[in-house]
Amino acid sequence: MTFTHFAPPKPMFEVIKTKHSRLSQVDFNNIPFGRIFSDHMFVMDYQNGQWQQGQIIPYGNLQLSPATSALHYGQAIFEGLKANRDSNSADILLFRPYDNAHRFNHSAVRMDMPEVPEDLFVEAIAQLIQLDREWVPSTTDSSMYIRPVMFGCDNFIGVRSSDNYKMVVLTSPVGPYYTKPVRVVIADKFVRAFDGGTGEAKAAGNYGATMYPASLARQKGYDQVLWTDGVEHKYVEEIGTMNVFFVINNEVITPSLDGTILHGVTRDSVITLFKEMGVKVTERRITTEELFEAHSKGLLQEAFGAGTAATITQIEELAYKDKRYVMPPVQARTLATKVKSELENIKRGLKPDTYNWLVRI
Ligand code: COI
Repeated sequence: MTFTHFAPPKPMFEVIKTKHSRLSQVDFNNIPFGRIFSDHMFVMDYQNGQWQQGQIIPYGNLQLSPATSALHYGQAIFEGLKANRDSNSADILLFRPYDNAHRFNHSAVRMDMPEVPEDLFVEAIAQLIQLDREWVPSTTDSSMYIRPVMFGCDNFIGVRSSDNYKMVVLTSPVGPYYTKPVRVVIADKFVRAFDGGTGEAKAAGNYGATMYPASLARQKGYDQVLWTDGVEHKYVEEIGTMNVFFVINNEVITPSLDGTILHGVTRDSVITLFKEMGVKVTERRITTEELFEAHSKGLLQEAFGAGTAATITQIEELAYKDKRYVMPPVQARTLATKVKSELENIKRGLKPDTYNWLVRI
């Protein structure tokens, strides 16, 4: 007797295809970040205590009541991940989607929202990418950015957790988030996160609260804020769009995950790859004073951010109060440059995927 091995059953989604693809209107040699959306999106509603059947439908506006609770009280979370073309085949490579699924649920729990089965989260993305695979850019430094988002949608003005939620996944071909090294101002007044808060959740409100300080920083010529702890403004935590790394005296140091910092998937990948390269990496608290002292002694060799959207972004300058700390030229930043290329090579199938980070589509 022979046995047939079936693949595990996949969640079934209803698929409604667009009749008017916009693909031919896209200039793939000139892709801005986050402004172009592929033909389709995934939508799924949570009602009566369970997730309803998901749908893949043409990208378009949602119809929402002005009483939609997330608009008032910010019960909203999101994720960001990327897909790239495999350099050796026609496959599309999703980078660490299960880690994003896991973090999405971690955020959901903190915000009192329903969790999404991780397989369903990944399958929704895989099927969406499969349908719009022609939209995945092949140009260098470009990727397909995937943005899952979930928000409370009760039409109710009272302050309580929603009973109804909507999850949407958008896909967006993107070029680099930052096209050059960034100048960063270290927070000495405003706070992003504090013990017991939502700092390590990818909650929409975490980002909303940073808009005003980020605008003030931009007015002074800085690209981003490097957040410090909410008690003393003494320890550096993360940058508005990415985790932060420093190289001091040949040792890579990044703030430890103490509850106020996002558990970055790129952060974790960078740490793993540095260890593989034999570089000493330490996760611990870092004071601003330590950074300035290392800078004054010429020991602060590198500073960079790591995130899905930003990938590895070099920091050109740190500013604190009225002082400026200019970093060494990018050409001298061997560790960040090397880890970026290792990471990009794995994402694009140019280096073996020894950690099983990739899901092939
Ligand atoms: C990402 O890197 O994917 C993010 O979500 C950060 C930012 C664009 C908000």
